[in-house]
Amino acid sequence: MDISEQAVQTAQRLAQEAGLDAQIDLQAIDLSQHFPAGEFELVCALYFQSPYDDFPRIDILQQAARRIVPGGHLLIVTHASAPPWAKPDENMKHHVFPTADGDWQALALPEGQWQKLHVGITTRVAKGPEGQEAELQDNLIWARRV
Ligand SMILES: C[S@@+](CC[C@H](N)C(=O)[O-])C[C@H]1O[C@@H](n2cnc3c(N)ncnc32)[C@H](O)[C@@H]1O
Repeated sequence: MDISEQAVQTAQRLAQEAGLDAQIDLQAIDLSQHFPAGEFELVCALYFQSPYDDFPRIDILQQAARRIVPGGHLLIVTHASAPPWAKPDENMKHHVFPTADGDWQALALPEGQWQKLHVGITTRVAKGPEGQEAELQDNLIWARRV
C-alpha cells in the first residue's frame, strides 16, 4: 500500500518482472483515511515517512499493530538521516528524522502483548543517483505479538 499511484504502478511492474504479481495485492490508499480490513502475520512499514510530516504516521502504525495476529511480527524501517547526496532544500532544512527509541515510545504497544526483538540503528550500503556508494543508517523496530 502506498498513497502514490506512481509508486504502486512501479511496484506492479517490478512484481510482474519477478513473476510475483499473482501473489501480491498492491493498493493505492491514503492510510490516514482508510486502513484495509483483515488480520496480518507480518506488517512491514518501509521508510513510511516524509519531509512533509502532516500525516498521522504513528496512529497509522498503531492501527497496523492492532491488526497483527498473535505470533505475528511488526517491522518498521525508517531513514535515520538524509543520505550524503540529498540536496538540502527549504523543506528538508527543518526536517527531524524519527529515532527507533522515539518511535518505539510513541507506539506505546500494549504492555505484555509485545516482545521487543530489536529497537535500534542498523546500517546498509546504498547507491546514490550518480552511482556513488555510502553507508546509510536506518532505524529498525522489530517486535512480535505474543
Ligand atoms: C520514503 S517513501 C518510501 C517508499 C517505499 N515504501 C520504499 O521503501 O521505497 C515514503 C512513502 O510514503 C508514502 N505515503 C506518504 N503518506 C502516505 C499516506 N497517508 N498513506 C499511504 N502512503 C503514504 C509516500 O507516497 C511514499 O511513497
